[in-house]
Amino acid sequence: MASTVGQVIKCRAAVAWEAGKPLVIEEVEVAPPQAMEVRMKILYTSLCHTDVYFWEAKGQTPVFPRIFGHEAGGIVESVGEGVTELAPGDHVLPIFTGECKECPHCKSEESNMCDLLRINTDRGVMIHDGKSRFSIKGKPVYHFLGTSTFCEYTVVHVGCVAKINPLAPLDKVCVISCGVSTGYGAAVNVAKPPKGSSVAVFGLGAVGLAAAEGARASGASRIIGVDVNPSRFEAAKKFGCTEFVNPLEHEKPVQEVIAGMTNGGVDRSVECTGNVNAMISAFECVHDGWGVAVLVGVPHKEAEFKTHPLNFLNERTLKGTFYGNYKPRSDIPSVVEKYMNKELELEKFITHSLPFSEINKAFDYMLKGESLRCIIHMDG
Ligand SMILES: NC(=O)c1ccc[n+]([C@@H]2O[C@H](COP(=O)([O-])OP(=O)(O)OC[C@H]3O[C@@H](n4cnc5c(N)ncnc54)[C@H](O)[C@@H]3O)[C@@H](O)[C@H]2O)c1
Ligand SMILES: [Zn+2]
Ligand SMILES: [Zn+2]
Repeated sequence: MASTVGQVIKCRAAVAWEAGKPLVIEEVEVAPPQAMEVRMKILYTSLCHTDVYFWEAKGQTPVFPRIFGHEAGGIVESVGEGVTELAPGDHVLPIFTGECKECPHCKSEESNMCDLLRINTDRGVMIHDGKSRFSIKGKPVYHFLGTSTFCEYTVVHVGCVAKINPLAPLDKVCVISCGVSTGYGAAVNVAKPPKGSSVAVFGLGAVGLAAAEGARASGASRIIGVDVNPSRFEAAKKFGCTEFVNPLEHEKPVQEVIAGMTNGGVDRSVECTGNVNAMISAFECVHDGWGVAVLVGVPHKEAEFKTHPLNFLNERTLKGTFYGNYKPRSDIPSVVEKYMNKELELEKFITHSLPFSEINKAFDYMLKGESLRCIIHMDG
């Protein structure tokens, strides 16, 4: 096979030309990686609700044409100047939020909000030169979350790449690159439910179910799944949910229903819906004195969180997290090892698979609430 190093690669991408319109498989040109960048061949990608929000662009900044996708697994094709820790052939997960390893956040044990590479949903270009690495007939196509995995090859900053065990099956561990780590980490790293505690999880998609799984792994004994889609409830039992509440079935606000079930409130809650009212409920359903609520869902651009200040004075804590507080380069290889050691099951998050040519169906599955994760095979 002729080497592609230093060359422009022509390959297929699923391009979003307009908000809410089906993606179109196009031939794109992918420029070689520049300083501190990595070009990787994507083998598998999946769809997360964050892709759908920005594609719909109803409550988010529209940036088009754009290549979406941020949950994926692949192999390094070539590296740019200054990249020493990755080499062609390495198995990697691209991550939507990065770790430069040098800034105060990267040096802090408490933060993964890297100054240089933290999630930026509106930027459509690379940091190095403010340009896109993708083009069609000379016209730029924009990046999404610095990952753009709905393309056979993509260019990512080295700080947004986790090098993983080459024996790990990429068609499974790709879900660690966003959804599973986000939810699992939100529970184990941020909510930290004590043994025997009660936890409410709002939104039982892959992120919420990973949070339930994390709550169970932490020793929570009651895990209350909250969703407006009751078809989620049966599957959620496999992720540790012990009880269910459908807010639509109650006259009272769901926080009051939960308080009634738990003698005043749950010990912890994790919100994984993106709906601001669910965020407020998730906060108001935790017990006073010690309850902690963790927000994970990506809200509408203009959303405002409204609650009475007394809810805080009564000693409740509200937190939020990106990527479950994991640092992508330092922490994610060991999350992959959890799967390899059978401490973390991934198969149950994967409900569908599709060839790349049918990627639009994955959007339908998610919008209809039928899928958790749909794995898209880039060779199909
Ligand atoms: N913070 C982060 O780092 C991060 C990372 C990944 C995803 N996310 C966000 O997490 C959320 C979940 O992502 P996903 O891929 O699991 O999505 P998903 O669509 O698969 O699941 C969301 C679930 O929430 C339910 N839901 C919606 N509104 C609700 C409400 N008002 N009350 C109760 N349930 C409700 C839906 O029925 C669905 O089952 C999204 O907002 C996504 O953007 C955040
Ligand atoms: Zn995601
Ligand atoms: Zn940093």
